[in-house]
Amino acid sequence: MKQVKICVLEGDGIGPEIVKQAVKVLKSACNARGIELELTNALLGGAAIDAVGTPLPDATIEQCKKSDAVLLGAVGGPKWDSLPSEQRPEKGLLGIRSALGLYANLRPAAIFPALRSASPLKDDIIRDGIDILVVRELTGDVYFGKHARKQEDGYEIGYDIMQYSTYEVERIARTAFELARKRNRRVTSVDKANVLETSRVWRETVTRIAKEYPDVALSHMYVDNAAMQLVRNPAQFDVLVTGNIFGDILSDEASMISGSIGMLASASLGSGKLGLYEPIHGSAPDIAGKGLANPLATILSAAMMLRFSLDLPELADAIEKAVENTLDAARTADIQDPSLPVYTTEEMGSYVADQVGQLLNNNKD
Ligand code: IPM
Ligand code: MG
Repeated sequence: MKQVKICVLEGDGIGPEIVKQAVKVLKSACNARGIELELTNALLGGAAIDAVGTPLPDATIEQCKKSDAVLLGAVGGPKWDSLPSEQRPEKGLLGIRSALGLYANLRPAAIFPALRSASPLKDDIIRDGIDILVVRELTGDVYFGKHARKQEDGYEIGYDIMQYSTYEVERIARTAFELARKRNRRVTSVDKANVLETSRVWRETVTRIAKEYPDVALSHMYVDNAAMQLVRNPAQFDVLVTGNIFGDILSDEASMISGSIGMLASASLGSGKLGLYEPIHGSAPDIAGKGLANPLATILSAAMMLRFSLDLPELADAIEKAVENTLDAARTADIQDPSLPVYTTEEMGSYVADQVGQLLNNNKD
């Protein structure tokens, strides 16, 4: 019997309630195929600060390393906003990505046909469908350069060093080209090479690595233009590869094309099989505990986990199909449709779990 070990990091705000739904869906999928699911919980973010005084306890890193994959909700909230930067919940998230060596963050922004009317973009822009894969570098850039303050002429100056080494760019570029080979063989590399030295190293390196992939078409775009093109003509993009900060910003923008940030999943991968899977939205403390959160991004993240870390693509397909079916039957508040019932977080999760069970049981040979 196949056994999979998953470390669950619920985090803060809506984290626990959305993760609970994704776990329900995972259990339903694994049950249908007799796969043994071993779940352990560990602390991250504000929840860890409250329990043990640090956003990333060593025990959490160890537990994650012992697992096949990590499922994460979201971290942060106003309760911890006034803490010094080293002790904030976000530090826990950045720390776990880095401690596990997860340098490639995959954020697919596709549009479910049932959600076309939820997209803020005009119908003629999204008519032919959108299927973008944002590949965001996750362990470098201004996020991990030196952060400091200094006094000068009586003023305080804050600074954060933006930097990329060719090594970091080479590996993320390869990830992007490899993924493009399984898609439409187009990579757009986004930078600000007209201004930043970091970006010039980025662009030269991506161009050099592209020679290893003559079957993939590479183009370059400045980040300001990319932000515009994402709303003007998003269908032009296949794989969009970029650095940590530009990827953070552009992936939120790309997510809105799909109708709601509550729909966007992500996978963070390193050089091995271990991956961390999380929705791209935050902890939404304002709606926590109210049953309003959309669990689909976390459920779709669980599907990515089955595909990338657990080698169970059949189960991943079933979850994605189940989400499509669910969107035809019911909606959470963020993606309401006048003709469909509005479900709570819990109801939505149960509906998907049920669909997954049915799809897999109908397909048994
Ligand atoms: C994300 C988030 C994080 C990031 C924050 C919470 C640190 O915005 O995953 O996109 O900037 O990476
Ligand atoms: Mg972000």
